[in-house]
Amino acid sequence: MPRKHWRGASLRACSCTIRHDTSPGAIRHGPFREPGMLLSSDEVQLTVGLRMEFSQVRLLCSRVTSLLTRFLICFRGKPGVIYFKVAREIMDWAITGGWNVEIRQITEDDAAAFLALQLQLDRETDFMLMAPGERQTTARQQRDIIRKILSDGRSMTWVIADDRHLVGGLTLRAMAPFKIRHTGHIVVGLLASHRGQGLGSKLFGQMETWARVHAFHRLELTVMCDNRAALNLYLTQGFMVEGLRRDSIRQPDGHWVDEYAMSKLL
Ligand SMILES: CC(C)(COP(=O)(O)OP(=O)(O)OC[C@H]1O[C@@H](n2cnc3c(N)ncnc32)[C@H](O)[C@@H]1OP(=O)(O)O)[C@@H](O)C(=O)NCCC(=O)NCCS
Repeated sequence: MPRKHWRGASLRACSCTIRHDTSPGAIRHGPFREPGMLLSSDEVQLTVGLRMEFSQVRLLCSRVTSLLTRFLICFRGKPGVIYFKVAREIMDWAITGGWNVEIRQITEDDAAAFLALQLQLDRETDFMLMAPGERQTTARQQRDIIRKILSDGRSMTWVIADDRHLVGGLTLRAMAPFKIRHTGHIVVGLLASHRGQGLGSKLFGQMETWARVHAFHRLELTVMCDNRAALNLYLTQGFMVEGLRRDSIRQPDGHWVDEYAMSKLL
């Protein structure tokens, strides 16, 4: 393995975006560090070298960087193949299929885990509606909310479950009045550790299949204008911007944010 390339200037220079143009995909997560920079001596001893297919690397990169922990990533420019070096703890996790997650419809038994997911999202991102600490829902109330969604028959929540937790979810809520019954409103959120791995797109795929079967004609949502990841996701899913909701959000620090109203007709 070309060790000297691992310490190359091109890698050192990357801070947030790497586009590997000759490869069938792209790694876009960061920050990337020069090998050894962040590692304690223990962690350096634990590093292993691996040869992986690009798709695996892509998944692993996003997981590793989102853990913001002991890692170093090295690659050389060869289409489809990347040489990868990473702390053994993370490697073991990856080798044992640690990135495997399941997308499924929510059940009442998910109440506590789903509440925990929402509380973590409230803390992790300013792009969801609730401010950190604002959500007062109890697990029992959450169970009632889920029961209501499931009994409605035309609303649904999909969750992403890893080994122990729920790490993301998407809710489609049907409008009740007859004249707007064909419309579903969407809310989606993933924990930072699981973003950028195609899971948001998969949630949308499952939701849309279900929405078609349940005769929805219009899907709609709102998104803060500075939320590039979400905006791009919605555009790639075929949503269109149909209007600007001026100052519709006031962040806890007091600044105003516009939102786009977006929709997709099925
Ligand atoms: C928005 C969110 C749901 C996207 O889910 P995700 O699983 O990360 O998205 P995917 O990996 O499926 O990416 C799908 C597309 O979204 C866009 N995208 C995703 N992450 C992006 C990023 N960091 N920067 C720019 N575009 C991004 C890309 O167009 C991507 O397509 P590509 O992979 O072909 O380039 C997720 O980032 C999230 O939960 N964010 C925090 C909560 C939030 O903002 N919720 C939405 C409120 S309206």
